[in-house]
Amino acid sequence: MGIDAGKNSADIVKVLELCRDVEAASAELYKYFAEIYSDHPELAALWRKTAKEEEDHAKQFVLALKMRREPFIDAIVIDGSKAENALKIVRSLNDMARKSPPGMLEALRAAIKLEKGLADFHMSTAVHFVQENQKQLFLALMKADNEHVEALEKFYQRLFVTD
Ligand SMILES: [Fe+2]
Ligand SMILES: [Fe+2]
Repeated sequence: MGIDAGKNSADIVKVLELCRDVEAASAELYKYFAEIYSDHPELAALWRKTAKEEEDHAKQFVLALKMRREPFIDAIVIDGSKAENALKIVRSLNDMARKSPPGMLEALRAAIKLEKGLADFHMSTAVHFVQENQKQLFLALMKADNEHVEALEKFYQRLFVTD
C-alpha cells in the first residue's frame, strides 16, 4: 500500500502515539463495515471481531506509552514518516468508505491490502526499537495483522465463490 520511508524523523513517543491512532482508526473502519453489512450476520461478526482486536491493539500502545521507563530511549530518533503515512492511509479509507460505502467484496479487498501494509509497517518498525517489550509489541502486532489477512481472505474466497 505504499508506505514509504522518508526523511521525517520523530521521537519514540510520537511514533507510539501514531501507531495507537492507526489501530484506533482501523477499529473505526471495521466497526463501520460491521454496521453497513449488518444484513449479513456472519460478515458483520467478522468485522466486529476484527474491530475489537484493533481496539485491543490501540490499548496496548496506550500501555506501552505508560510503561516507558528509560528516559534516554526518547532521545533516539526514528523515522516517523511510515507511521504518519500509515495513519493517513487508514484515515482516508475511513473517509472514502463513508462517502461511498464499498460493496462487501470491495471492503474485504481494501482491508486485506491495509492489513498487509500494516504487517510490513509493524515488522520494519520493530527493528528500530531498542526496548525489548516495545520490539515484541510490534512483532506481536505484525502477527495479528497476518492473522487478519488470513481470516479476511478466507471470507473473501467464500463470498467470491457464492456470489
Ligand atoms: Fe492491529
Ligand atoms: Fe489488523
